[in-house]
Amino acid sequence: MKYFLDSAKLDEIEYAYEFLGIDGVTTNPRHIMLSGKPFMTVIEDLAAWVKTKGIEGYEKFPISVEINPHLNKWEDMVAEGKKISAYSSNFVIKIPCNEQGLIAARRLEREGIRTNVTLVFSPSQALPVGKHNSLFVSPFVGWKENSGEDTAQYIQDIVDIYAIHGMKTEVIVAALRNGKQIGDAAKAGAHIVTCGLDVYKASFEHPFTNYGLGVFTKAWDETTK
Ligand code: E4P
Repeated sequence: MKYFLDSAKLDEIEYAYEFLGIDGVTTNPRHIMLSGKPFMTVIEDLAAWVKTKGIEGYEKFPISVEINPHLNKWEDMVAEGKKISAYSSNFVIKIPCNEQGLIAARRLEREGIRTNVTLVFSPSQALPVGKHNSLFVSPFVGWKENSGEDTAQYIQDIVDIYAIHGMKTEVIVAALRNGKQIGDAAKAGAHIVTCGLDVYKASFEHPFTNYGLGVFTKAWDETTK
């Protein structure tokens, strides 16, 4: 299962790429806002960063960039997708999952521009995404769980439906908030997870690891007196 970083901050992306071996990046308008930079600056910085790393091309290192959320007509979404994708061969165009978004994603894929259909909350939304061969689908976990819903089954259903029907779209389990959700996504057979750096870092730790280190450090010191 691949790990994508959900961030638009270049320092975080650099760290996660160099030290954690992340396989790609996902961004959204909120992440771009949190980077403190204007949208176009982030786009140009990301396009330049993949060049310096020698990882040009979405096959090597996909970076999902979301279109302007004000757009609600497929023609405008397609035009915006084309505009953004021209900046880097790493860019995968993130499109919202609604009727107009699905039309736009299908059109873009037909023209060779890869898409990530996002804001997916049910198997019935994920199905047309697979049918029209988007590169990625992004079902969200954290937001649903915040509303008291269980998400393990819905992620499993999407993964199973794609496998049963031979759909090639890869499932990015998105908006993860903890290590348990990362493990659940892996168990369901998801292709990719995406979450923030803090979530990955917390998932590497366990209080017993620290406790154990305390025990072993004490024992070590006894043997080296
Ligand atoms: C996924 O691609 C989204 O960018 C992301 O997971 C959205 O959720 P969050 O920003 O609330 O984590």
